[in-house]
Amino acid sequence: MSRFSNNHLLYLDNAATSFPKPPRVMQAVQQCMVSYGGNPGRGSHTLAARAADAVYSCREAAGEFFHTEPERIVFTQNATHGLNTVIKGYLRPGDHVLISDISHNAVYRPVYRLSQDAGISFDVYTAGLSGAELWAELRSRIRPNTRMVVVTHMSNVSSLTDSLPEIAAFCRQFGLLCIVDAAQSAGHIPVYADMEGVTAVCVPGHKGLFGPMGTGLIAFSDHAPVCGSLTQGGSGVLSLSPDMPEDLPEHLEAGTLAVPAIAGLCEGIRFVSRHPELYQKISRHSSWLWEEMHNIRGVTLYGGGDGGIISFVIDGISPADTAAYLDRCGICVRSGYHCAPLAHRKFGSMDTGTVRLSFGMFNTGRDAARVLDAVSKCKKILL
Ligand code: ALA
Repeated sequence: MSRFSNNHLLYLDNAATSFPKPPRVMQAVQQCMVSYGGNPGRGSHTLAARAADAVYSCREAAGEFFHTEPERIVFTQNATHGLNTVIKGYLRPGDHVLISDISHNAVYRPVYRLSQDAGISFDVYTAGLSGAELWAELRSRIRPNTRMVVVTHMSNVSSLTDSLPEIAAFCRQFGLLCIVDAAQSAGHIPVYADMEGVTAVCVPGHKGLFGPMGTGLIAFSDHAPVCGSLTQGGSGVLSLSPDMPEDLPEHLEAGTLAVPAIAGLCEGIRFVSRHPELYQKISRHSSWLWEEMHNIRGVTLYGGGDGGIISFVIDGISPADTAAYLDRCGICVRSGYHCAPLAHRKFGSMDTGTVRLSFGMFNTGRDAARVLDAVSKCKKILL
């Protein structure tokens, strides 16, 4: 455990969850727990109504942010929950689905499980292409029974992004559902439910949107068909029906929502909306560090570094040992495999995994220089 106090810790694990959260996020969680204590939709009394207002405010903020109607925002526990919901809710036996070679396990595992249990087949396309090359790649992978493409907008291992507008346009042309895993991109680079061809965008609340952990959402486009529900249960409406209500959002929101966390998420979305410039700052710092790290002998870098995420290893030192050393220097990073085996295979880091530095909105150029210094010294000290 590091001997540093929080004030001196340098947090570079924002791809796992953003930290710190803006003060208003924490205030909103507390205010909700103190003043909005009812269960939204489960009563008509004052406290239930206040909770319902808090939830609807977040639907409105998210709808505006992701360019869709508030009712087409479905709250989930995280991006994984959202991705499972749409992947399993839309696909039927006999369907074929394309996923990319930077997919996180949140995409790969549900698709793999469906391929074992439910008569679904899948192929993996090459991420990071554009133009005619991308079109040819997708064209060569689709089959007559292809129903869906799941686009990983940004890798969680490196900064590689996939060309969402082009893939969505392809989906539109070929009548395919286009599901976006925006776990690393939402709040950073534009991703909208009304992009031509997009069906649904799955988002964690606790990363680029600055909400508490345990929050996430699906932003469905206006034209998206309602998919099957992953879970069934109380919805607060049509209580006498044995089935879930047909309309969104209730169709996909069984059980009590995480209302205090959603109230915090609402403030997180408002914060990001007010600061569209912050991602450029993140990119500037990570690009600078990426270039400087190239000059350290014995450091191997993977993928790209211009989008806030840098993956590397130091020759002769395991990622776990490097991360432990950085932790002793007060620098919090993730090491090993980042729940994305396809991406590790693509980037060539399958043997050891990587040390991952992921910048957030509150990091500075001085932070980047501090990491550079620590990585430079790590080799001398550990070897
Ligand atoms: N998917 C998150 C990460 O990349 C947790 O760390």
